[in-house]
Amino acid sequence: MTATAPQAREASGPPARGRFVTFEGGEGAGKSSQIAHLAERLRGRGLDVVVTREPGGSPGAECIRHVLLTGAAEVFGPLAEACLFAAARADHVDLTIRPALARGAWVLSDRFYDSSRVYQGDGGVAPQTLRLLEEVAVDEVRPDLTLLLDVPAEIGLARAGSRRGGGDADRFEKEDVGVHERRRRAFLAIAAEEPWRFAVIDATAAPAEVAETIWRTVGHRLGLPAAVEAE
Ligand code: TYD
Repeated sequence: MTATAPQAREASGPPARGRFVTFEGGEGAGKSSQIAHLAERLRGRGLDVVVTREPGGSPGAECIRHVLLTGAAEVFGPLAEACLFAAARADHVDLTIRPALARGAWVLSDRFYDSSRVYQGDGGVAPQTLRLLEEVAVDEVRPDLTLLLDVPAEIGLARAGSRRGGGDADRFEKEDVGVHERRRRAFLAIAAEEPWRFAVIDATAAPAEVAETIWRTVGHRLGLPAAVEAE
């Protein structure tokens, strides 16, 4: 399959829209190192790549991130937290994601709205409320592909713990293994509902193997410039 580089210009028109790839999964799934690896490989093929994260990814959203992850908003309850995640997302979409896609860049985001569906959903916010917040926040900017890095909760928590060293767990890391396993099931359920958007990646494999699977999946689902596929 020969695909055109997403940022290639049409003869007379604006740049083609870029690609939007989100990474989801529980703690210790290895999202950030896999994102860095994929970004480097895509850049090696001449693509414009923006790496971003949620909550955060724009100055306003990073402020909200601080409020959320320190647990300062916890006292206001799960609905208020869900609204804050949505507010951060709206800013992130407006200031970072939409402009990058419009200029033809690939956007790789460490988490997006599926995390709200899973974490705030598990916290007791009704699914229809979350969908409403989601629609307002994303304003039709939806991922082309969501890679779910799947790992059993015990393994993910052990990895996250060793990565942290002696540091404290954040507001959402500190729950017990049962909660983490429930969230894992919730991610897998969303993936099963939207198979055209999701790819579930076994993240228990060695990092290099996971990276290869991601690379093949991205090429297969989104298409990559010919030079990449000749590799
Ligand atoms: P972060 O430090 O980015 O860690 P990681 O993505 O490696 O787990 O923490 C973000 C935390 O916020 C994470 O525990 C999941 C949680 N979260 C939500 O509860 N809802 C959301 O919509 C998002 C984006 C994240």
